[in-house]
Amino acid sequence: MIDHVDIMYKIKVMHKDDQKPLNTENKPFSPACERNKEPILTVLKKVITPKIKSVLEMGSGTGQHAAYFAPHFSHLNWTTSDVLEHHLGIRMWMSDSNVDNIVGPVEYQVGKDDFPKGSFDMVYTANTFHIMPWEKVEVFISQLPSNLKPNAHVLIYGPFNYNGQFTSESNERFDRNLRERASHQGIRNFEDVRDKMSEFNFRIENDYEMPANNRLIHFIKI
Ligand SMILES: C[S@@+](CC[C@H](N)C(=O)[O-])C[C@H]1O[C@@H](n2cnc3c(N)ncnc32)[C@H](O)[C@@H]1O
Repeated sequence: MIDHVDIMYKIKVMHKDDQKPLNTENKPFSPACERNKEPILTVLKKVITPKIKSVLEMGSGTGQHAAYFAPHFSHLNWTTSDVLEHHLGIRMWMSDSNVDNIVGPVEYQVGKDDFPKGSFDMVYTANTFHIMPWEKVEVFISQLPSNLKPNAHVLIYGPFNYNGQFTSESNERFDRNLRERASHQGIRNFEDVRDKMSEFNFRIENDYEMPANNRLIHFIKI
């Protein structure tokens, strides 16, 4: 089953200055987020301790993950971020979540914008590394050390290759589709991500196997 980027937009996303009221019945919706939110939450419950008070999400997309996770961790602030065109959708999900610990959305396009201001204990990102060009993944990782607290956590969810091999036929198909659509996209090698994180002083704490041939990789700042 392909579980990665089947985001369907039920709405045409409006510019943030558009003054129309939020019609949250027409929120953007990602079926993949619906499927993966529970398994991801299970891992988040293991990783997130009371000491983690501030989380930055890079590439929040629809905002579904933030809206689902934040109510489970009322002791922390969950800051959403993405390129501008996703902000309205994120606001809709925030508005419907009825919690006050979701912050943002902050405009953060890796490679263009500065790293969001704040003092973060954890960075979470899902299904972004195979969408961004590898050079931007490198930029993102290079920005982490100076913007995260000591012992900060970084969680990266998505499909990854190991030893240069796909972990499933569906991932191989998915990778082909990505590259046909945009040549800079594609499933990344776990080892490349691990080595780049290590270069910027993050050690790997865990590499969780997730449903539908995905992984959730947990790093800690040294
Ligand atoms: C496949 S979607 C994943 C969205 C959401 N995290 C999820 O799991 O459903 C990829 C996201 O990465 C964002 N993205 C792509 N390039 C980016 C960049 N250079 N900086 C920040 N976000 C980026 C897109 O705007 C989009 O929201």
